[in-house]
Amino acid sequence: MTIWTPRITGRAGPRYLAIAERIAESIASGDLADGARLPPQRDLAHALGLSLSTVTRAYAEAERRGLVYGEVGRGTYVGGSGPADISMLFHPRTDGGMIDMTMNLPAPGDGSAILARTLTRLSQSAALETILDYRSIGDGDAHAEAGAAWIGRLGLEIPGSEVVLTIGAQHGIMVSLMATSRPGDLILAECLSYPPLKQIAQRLNLKLHPVDMDGHGLLPEALDTACRTTPARVLYCMPTLHSPTAATIPDDRRRQIAKVARRHDLTIIEDDVFGFLPEARPLPLSAIAPERSLLVTSVSKSLAPWLRVGYVRAPDNVRDAIRAAVHMSCGMQPPLMAEIARQWISDGTADRMSAWQREEAKARQAIARRILGRFPYHADPFGLHVWLPLPEPWRTEPFRMEAERRGVKVLSGDIFAVGKTPAPQAIRLALGREAGQERVIAGLKIVAGLLGGRESPGLSVV
Ligand SMILES: Cc1ncc(COP(=O)(O)O)c(C=O)c1O
Repeated sequence: MTIWTPRITGRAGPRYLAIAERIAESIASGDLADGARLPPQRDLAHALGLSLSTVTRAYAEAERRGLVYGEVGRGTYVGGSGPADISMLFHPRTDGGMIDMTMNLPAPGDGSAILARTLTRLSQSAALETILDYRSIGDGDAHAEAGAAWIGRLGLEIPGSEVVLTIGAQHGIMVSLMATSRPGDLILAECLSYPPLKQIAQRLNLKLHPVDMDGHGLLPEALDTACRTTPARVLYCMPTLHSPTAATIPDDRRRQIAKVARRHDLTIIEDDVFGFLPEARPLPLSAIAPERSLLVTSVSKSLAPWLRVGYVRAPDNVRDAIRAAVHMSCGMQPPLMAEIARQWISDGTADRMSAWQREEAKARQAIARRILGRFPYHADPFGLHVWLPLPEPWRTEPFRMEAERRGVKVLSGDIFAVGKTPAPQAIRLALGREAGQERVIAGLKIVAGLLGGRESPGLSVV
């Protein structure tokens, strides 16, 4: 196979700049299309008769110019459209056909029937009139009060005046970063993190710096080192039911993290979308260090992802900036959806729905234990996902492709790697996306068969 090889003979100046310029010209002329993968650095160095370090420098220069982006373990791609292809995280469910274990969503349950009843009630309710207008994202309205009540279920007691509504937690992360950072800033994140964070950061011109974790989550010592050795003053993290590793940071470690944050005047953006799941859980970091923590959550995992209702609890000094970021990015969160969430939270429906999710998650984790039990994997008994390191000699991409060929979609671990973190040879299995447990069982059996190798005689593992 011939690789894209830039002609750089006759060009003056350093070779690495000549390559970067040829990349720019080839993109402009259409020779390199958006999304195209540049040749592996080693191959290009060989083809051009240059040292590997020259090509590495050329790619870094092209990245600095916003022409390409590098993905750990995957290569370098043309375009500023995003550091990772996260389209697989957003697609409709297809009952029948491929079993989907990519999207980390709650089981559908009877949300649509509950919604139908709520809409009927709402159509005759006076509440409708009050929400059919623009509104200022002000203090303590009924929807923010409902958000505060919902956040209270996570262990953080706050008034509605501390809550700002967003269009789900992903939007909450974006506005939190907008409110706490400036373009060019460095943001700390667990070395494996929520994939859209990478796209948000890139769009906001923020750089991510990975912080090491162990089996109990983010390491306070690693956080301290990152704060001492970099200018970063904002941390995004998932202390409860981390995705993809399923780790929950224990209480004493949370207190150490809060201490480190105070020592370095660090702002914490705490993503707590899964925090309603465990029967017992440690207090949010936002309860331990409320003066410097933003808590981002939503009803997506507990009630319904399609409501697109999220809540950000922010300390006084950043709340106005959060409101401004919400106004700028979407005008306002759709009040009709917030009203549905408010009714469910206040009349007990939300508690019943999230209790059902908890039970369903528990049942699906028990199924996973039965089927995958002989392989070492990480999961929480109440979590929605499983993090499965692959035994040698498997590599994630061939495993993902082979699983898909056999009828189950899984997520490669590399999509979670932050910055220069090596791509983990592991996959994430989301157990909630499929409506019925029988399809979860079928999907897990395919995965177990592949891992065990018994169903794959002669399969070539790269
Ligand atoms: C860790 C984490 N944070 C945030 C989100 C976004 O949630 P929402 O659907 O409310 O935007 C997700 C959804 O997959 C998630 O897994």
